[in-house]
Amino acid sequence: MSTSICCLGAGYVGGPTMAMIAAKCPDVRVTVCDPNEQRIAAWNSDTLPVYEPGLQEVVESARGRNLFFSTDIRKAIRESEIIFVSVGTPTKTYGVGAGRAADLKYIEAAARMIAEEAEGAKIIVEKSTIPVKTAEAMFTILRSNSTKATFQVLSNPEFLAEGTAIEDLNDPDRVLIGGEQTPEGLAAIEKVVSIYARWIPREKILTTNLWSSELSKLVANAFLAQRISSINSISALCEATGADVDEVARAIGKDSRIGPKFLKASVGYGGSCFQKDILNLTYLCHHFGLPEVAAYWESVVKMNDWQKARFSGRIVRDLFNTVNGKHIAVLGFAFKKDTNDTRETAAIAVCRDLLAEGAKVVVYDPKVSEAQIRSEILGNGSNPNLVVVTGVLEACKGAHAVAVLTEWDEFKTLDFRAIFDGMLKPAFLFDGRNILPHQELKKIGFRVFAIGKPA
Ligand code: UDX
Ligand code: UDX
Repeated sequence: MSTSICCLGAGYVGGPTMAMIAAKCPDVRVTVCDPNEQRIAAWNSDTLPVYEPGLQEVVESARGRNLFFSTDIRKAIRESEIIFVSVGTPTKTYGVGAGRAADLKYIEAAARMIAEEAEGAKIIVEKSTIPVKTAEAMFTILRSNSTKATFQVLSNPEFLAEGTAIEDLNDPDRVLIGGEQTPEGLAAIEKVVSIYARWIPREKILTTNLWSSELSKLVANAFLAQRISSINSISALCEATGADVDEVARAIGKDSRIGPKFLKASVGYGGSCFQKDILNLTYLCHHFGLPEVAAYWESVVKMNDWQKARFSGRIVRDLFNTVNGKHIAVLGFAFKKDTNDTRETAAIAVCRDLLAEGAKVVVYDPKVSEAQIRSEILGNGSNPNLVVVTGVLEACKGAHAVAVLTEWDEFKTLDFRAIFDGMLKPAFLFDGRNILPHQELKKIGFRVFAIGKPA
């Protein structure tokens, strides 16, 4: 083996990224570590802890050959020349910066463990999304706690989107690697570049200083989220004026300066990154005395919260201003299709709003478990009005209304006639993703509400 690398954190990012590196570089030994034994056992099994189309094949092509999953983090640190850090960085829930700043306790713990174990020259690569200047903090921790090793810290943010992780890793728009602009820093950057260059064209591998790389990740996500909030703001105006938001999106997207992607109006964006990264960005802006810049980006999050509340509000209003005791079928809970991830999914807010109004909420999602849905909506609490089922027809039987919250392909071709027949009348349908055949539904007899569509 020419090189040994490891990754601390076997999550949505660390697992797939390392599996791809191992698949593309058979001579590089890749170990993915995590203290969570269950998670590591799952990575070593036929049921991976992360659902991604194509992931199982990539993992199986390399597992046991040059790809290993282990809970022995210290050993992996000792044996690896390059150490990726991909531990979670949730938004702080306590103390200074609560609700906005990233909680870096896992990053710091990782740095301290690396300092304890490392010997010789080590390259540390931040894969987690982190506030600008975190690399500097890592440097300080590493250098003050180790006498046996020398370190270079690089930033290599991951831009993969969930559901398309394998495609994105296989053929990314770009790979970004930031590091110190010193001879040692540049040599470390080159080392990591040479791994990605095994399958990614050189011109797509960008190298920058550390801070540009760290900040670019936050800014990329902020811009993407901003596009969704922009089109969602226009969806409200479309509903009021009789314009159709999908037509508006198509028309503006033809302008090559705007481009067609990320203009799909929805019930609101979710996922582990957008909200967290914008909050993080605004925290940085406040910290550096730029409240106007912070307020500008905060409005993106506010618009998203409003869109979610507007959707549940619309359901209540259309159902004659009360959903108390009414059965609402919720189709889709994941934050987008083709993933079992529910972090920050718009469905959480919508279900909570409906439960607060006294509705009976019956949820179906093809990939998300009942336990996960319950814990996202209720935490440790309970509510007899929340029911989770394993089929669409079961969810919709006897319902007053159906709400589509995730754009799963299987929802596009349901037997809507059978669904309609099983529902109370008038049968309402709220399409939070604009994926259903609305004309056909109206012909069947549904009362259809869709985002940004004329009533
Ligand atoms: C990643 C990045 O880390 C995050 O910063 C980015 O914004 C989103 O993507 P992700 O892989 O999605 O996070 O998170 P998660 O699936 O929660 O995985 C993190 C893993 O790190 C977990 O398996 C957790 O057990 C592990 N972990 C946590 C460690 O290995 N060590 C710790 O000290 C803490
Ligand atoms: C995002 C970024 O795309 C990725 O580059 C980064 O590495 C992590 O964060 P992800 O959160 O996995 O990826 O999914 P993404 O496809 O960006 O979707 C985020 C949310 O926006 C989803 O809830 C999705 O349904 C929603 N969305 C997306 C819309 O509502 N409309 C759109 O046009 C696009």
